[in-house]
Amino acid sequence: MQRTSSELLNFIFLRIGEIATSDGDTKLHKLSEMARDIVFADRCTIWICDKAHNVLWTKVSHGVGHIIIKPDNGLVGVAIQSKNPLIVNEVYTDHRFNTDIDKQTGYMTKTMMVIPMKDAQGQVTGAIQVINKKDDADFTAEDLTHLNLATTYVTESIRSMLLLQEIDATQKELINIMSMVAEKRSKETGEHIQRVAAYTKLLATLYGMDEAEATLLSEASPMHDVGKIAIPDKIIQKPGSLNPQEWEVMKTHAVLGYNMLKNSKRKLLQTAAIIAHEHHERYDGTGYPRGLAGEEIHIYGRIVALADVFDALNSKRVYKDAWKLDEIFLHLEKQKAKQFDPELVDLLLSNKEKFVNIQDKVHA
Ligand code: C2E
Ligand code: SIN
Ligand code: SIN
Ligand code: FE
Ligand code: FE
Repeated sequence: MQRTSSELLNFIFLRIGEIATSDGDTKLHKLSEMARDIVFADRCTIWICDKAHNVLWTKVSHGVGHIIIKPDNGLVGVAIQSKNPLIVNEVYTDHRFNTDIDKQTGYMTKTMMVIPMKDAQGQVTGAIQVINKKDDADFTAEDLTHLNLATTYVTESIRSMLLLQEIDATQKELINIMSMVAEKRSKETGEHIQRVAAYTKLLATLYGMDEAEATLLSEASPMHDVGKIAIPDKIIQKPGSLNPQEWEVMKTHAVLGYNMLKNSKRKLLQTAAIIAHEHHERYDGTGYPRGLAGEEIHIYGRIVALADVFDALNSKRVYKDAWKLDEIFLHLEKQKAKQFDPELVDLLLSNKEKFVNIQDKVHA
């Protein structure tokens, strides 16, 4: 019972939509269902630390009522005290397991995985516990990785809820999760993602976008290649050039990414959908997937196209070496009004040092 990366991504996307539009206890319940289902467990409990009373309480759990335990109690307590995740596949052989809850509920715990939730300062704020992997299987290191993705999201959701913040923070966290999942496949580093975001912000600002929109665009830009997650490894990691069939498959990443993102009502994900769709369109109309030209291409697509290629040329890929800076600038000049919006190329070429500064700050 495992999912491929693209199944995992689709699974998370499906749930996120529902979670984002619910609130209060319903939201927590959906979060715990997501954590449970992501690792094929029977139950999931979200424990929240109550600093003032030095106890842990369950906000949501499957099959368990409202239970309060001491934070040094049982396997959940061990994970919280040590600040480390824990997998125990036969809890009754582990003396640290606290049998009280099973006694109260009549439920038989066999396998357990716990991940502490931490705030930005590294303080533990609670834990996510999943119990009994389906079909009597054991929890694996891969399950731990998947539950970790869910935990990042759950922690951020709870924090936003507790602080009554706008859901934006959660969306940003989600974008990071998705970009991480996509990255694993494309071998592009997290630094590529950071640099594209920084070039995007700078281009948008030079273009005259206001701070809020430039920030939105820059935060959505890491998702431009999220569709690559569904492209086979043997194509993505091919050292040489792609043959025509492989190229047809590769080009689908733009529409695949768009389809993954387009149904979200959230502004950030809608922005990301436009970018995923249009970042390979070319100003002269010869790009893909739709062959849009000039201002038919959304300004978001035009900006990220330039930011992405500037960084791709600067970087070594499995299929090519990094280019020299003067070659890159010459190439961009030649591609004015062909591949790229001429106005954006002029802005980049008249602010070279600002772009090079970003490149130097975020090393490849
Ligand atoms: P990527 O490596 O992130 O490159 C993004 C875009 O940067 C490319 O979009 C292209 O517009 C530009 N670019 C990158 N390297 C070069 C280069 O050496 N010369 C020129 N003129 N432009 C370059 P494109 O072409 O639509 O490719 C999309 C994605 O397809 C690439 O993303 C990469 O993952 C893959 N790809 C493209 N060509 C090859 C290839 O020859 N071999 C392999 N294995 N993958 C390729
Ligand atoms: C424990 O963490 O050891 C007991 C708590 C539980 O089974 O839910
Ligand atoms: C889209 O559907 O990709 C966004 C709108 C546009 O085409 O400019
Ligand atoms: Fe792309
Ligand atoms: Fe890219």
